[in-house]
Amino acid sequence: MQIISNRPRRNRANPHIRSLIEENQVSVNDLVMPLFFKEGSKLQEPISAMPDQYRFSLDLLVDKVKELEDLGLGCVSIFPCIDESKKSLDAREAFNPEGLNQRAIQAIKTACPNILVMSDIALDPYNSAGHDGLVDQKTGEVLNDETLDVLEKMAIVQAQAGSDIVGPSDMMDGRIGRIRKALEKEQYKNTLIMAYTAKYASSFYGPFRDALDSAPKSGDKKTYQMNPANSREALRELRLDEKEGADIVMVKPGLSYLDIIYQLKQNTNLPVAAYNVSGEYSMIKAAASLGYVDGDALMSETLISFKRAGADIILTYFAEQMARILKNH
Ligand code: PBG
Repeated sequence: MQIISNRPRRNRANPHIRSLIEENQVSVNDLVMPLFFKEGSKLQEPISAMPDQYRFSLDLLVDKVKELEDLGLGCVSIFPCIDESKKSLDAREAFNPEGLNQRAIQAIKTACPNILVMSDIALDPYNSAGHDGLVDQKTGEVLNDETLDVLEKMAIVQAQAGSDIVGPSDMMDGRIGRIRKALEKEQYKNTLIMAYTAKYASSFYGPFRDALDSAPKSGDKKTYQMNPANSREALRELRLDEKEGADIVMVKPGLSYLDIIYQLKQNTNLPVAAYNVSGEYSMIKAAASLGYVDGDALMSETLISFKRAGADIILTYFAEQMARILKNH
């Protein structure tokens, strides 16, 4: 006869005990749905590298947001696909008050005033060089301080258009402080800043760059995005973003960086977000479509891993699919 005084399996014996002791849950309240859009009308263009994701024209973008609101989602993160003819080396379209991105913010806030709109602050969709910062044409250097001047103007036009949360995603030094000061000066005191605090130079962004046609024309992003081999740098960035006035700090990508999410959570009192990026999404969708894995199950397991690591907020292309599953439970 075996005497085993501790039998952890007792706590797993049936669904009720399992849910009683369950430590983490994913709820629609945690999820942010990223959406892509472009000029035009009645457009819903499939993105080939991201199954079930589309580039919408503004009319259908608004319809999609209404649908997401009905599913209980409360926040969307929007990414404009800018026509090549509007791109330039000074990225001036980025701060055009009438630009596509600003019209999208207005359209969504008019149709769905209770939905939070999160808008991206980085030059890559507007920069003909494809980089997140302005590029010195002689040396190829991605310029930090010159870029900040543009980011500041971008933040103002987005706040003016009604953006609730701006997301500086370019990893330029000092951007959070400059954007915070600019927003304060222009009386946009209630606009939140979600800092892309630890954004790594990752190959998981591949499908996103296809979606927006925003890949760098030359070189890579390693002089501004972080080295995947490092974690202490993330804590340095965290301290700076906190000091400069961020409201939310984020880690990106998510899945290969759960340790970074955990470390940020242990080291800050700010809410922590995780970005489950395009490549992570497409890997699961591709394997599921080949029948190699159960797509819904893998999605749920992925999302719960972010919560377990400490994420309060998850940006994920799965937000709609997950919300549908949660609604049917
Ligand atoms: C660029 C930006 C990127 C993503 C969000 N904002 C790509 C990049 O840095 O090249 C990637 C998101 C994804 O892959 O889902 N500012």
